[in-house]
Amino acid sequence: TAAQKGGYDYFMQKEIYDQPEALTNTVMPRLHNGLADFSADGISDDLFKDISRVIVTACGTAMHAGLVGRHLIESMVRIPVTVELSSEFRYMDPILDEHTLVVIVSQSGETADSLAALRLANERGSKTLSIVNVKGSSIARESDQVLYTHAGPEIAVASTKAFSVQCSGFYLIALKLAELSGKFTEAELSEYCKKFEEAIATVPEVLKMDSYIKDIAEKIKDTFSAFFLGRSLDYAIASEGSLKLKEISYVNSEAYNAGELKHGTISLVTEGVPIIAIATQDHVLPKIMANVEEVKARGAHVIMVTDKDMSDYEGVYDDLIQVPSVDDRFGTFGVTVALQLLAYHVTVFRGNDVDQPRNLAKSVTVE
Ligand code: G6P
Repeated sequence: TAAQKGGYDYFMQKEIYDQPEALTNTVMPRLHNGLADFSADGISDDLFKDISRVIVTACGTAMHAGLVGRHLIESMVRIPVTVELSSEFRYMDPILDEHTLVVIVSQSGETADSLAALRLANERGSKTLSIVNVKGSSIARESDQVLYTHAGPEIAVASTKAFSVQCSGFYLIALKLAELSGKFTEAELSEYCKKFEEAIATVPEVLKMDSYIKDIAEKIKDTFSAFFLGRSLDYAIASEGSLKLKEISYVNSEAYNAGELKHGTISLVTEGVPIIAIATQDHVLPKIMANVEEVKARGAHVIMVTDKDMSDYEGVYDDLIQVPSVDDRFGTFGVTVALQLLAYHVTVFRGNDVDQPRNLAKSVTVE
C-alpha cells in the first residue's frame, strides 16, 4: 500500500533509500574500539579460529555478496574462500571438514537450496555461520551461528538493501578474521574501521545523484542488451549490477570479467550497445580502461561507474557516474547504490512492474 511505501512510488525505490539506515543498523553496533565485536550476537571468536578455508554458499543476489566477501577475506587474511551457488553445492559432493567454515547468505532464510546446502554442511561436520535478514527463519535456526543483517523487511522482489547489508556482514567478518590472524596492528584495524564507516557515509551522497542517474538511464532505456564489466572486486559488483538490471527491466544483461571480453563477449558489442564499466580498484584501473577503449572502438555506449579520478581518461567513455572516492577495499557500497538506481530508472522508463517482475519470486522455497 501507499503508506507502506512511505511516499515512494515503489518498494524497491524505498528500499534503495533505506540503505543508509540499514547499513548503520547492521554495522555500527558491531564496531567497538576499532574492532569487529560479535559478542551481542552470541558469536564467540572460536568460530573463526582453526579454519583453513571458507566456503560461501547462497543463491542470486546473496551469492554476489559472497563474491564480494571472497575478495576481502582472501586479500586481507589469506584464507582461501570459494563461493558456490547452493543449487550446485548441494549436489557436488563437497569436500568439507571441521576446519571449513561454511557461510550461508540469505535474505529470507528460507531459500530451499541454501537450506539444503546448510544441512549438508552441518551433516559433514563443518562450522556453519549464516548471514540472514529474517529473524527466526529456517536457515537462522539451523546454523551454528547467525549474523543477522538489520535491513528491516524487504518487499520488492529485486533485492537492494539486503545486498548492501550482506556485504557489510562480510566486511565485519573480514575485520574479525584480520584481528585473529595477528597480522595487523591495532592502528591498521582501526584504520580499516574508519575507512569502512567513511564508505557507508557516501551512500547518502550517491542517493543525491538520483536524477543525474535517471538521465543516463533514459539514454539506454530502449536497449535490447547490456554488459557490465569489471575485474576482481569490481566483477563482483558488476555481477550484482547486471542481475538488478536484468531481473526488473528485462534487458538481456550479462556481467563479464573484463579480461574475458576478447574470448567471447566482444563479438556482441555493436554500435550503441551499453557497456557499464566498474572501476573501484586502482591496481586494475589501467586494465579496465584498456577494455573500455576496445569496446568504444566498436561503437559501444560506455557508462563509467567509478570513485576514481577519471581526468586521465576523458573522452574514453560516454557517461560518467562519479561516486565519492573511498579506499579501494570499500568501493562496493557507493557503486552498488548507483547501479541499483540505474536499474530502477531503466525499468520505470520501460513501464514494467518494478516490484513484481514477471516469473520471479521474492523467496524460492521449492527446489
Ligand atoms: C530470489 C530473490 C532474490 C534473492 C534470491 C535468494 O531469487 O528474487 O532477490 O537474491 O532468491 O534469496 P535469499 O532469501 O536466500 O537471499
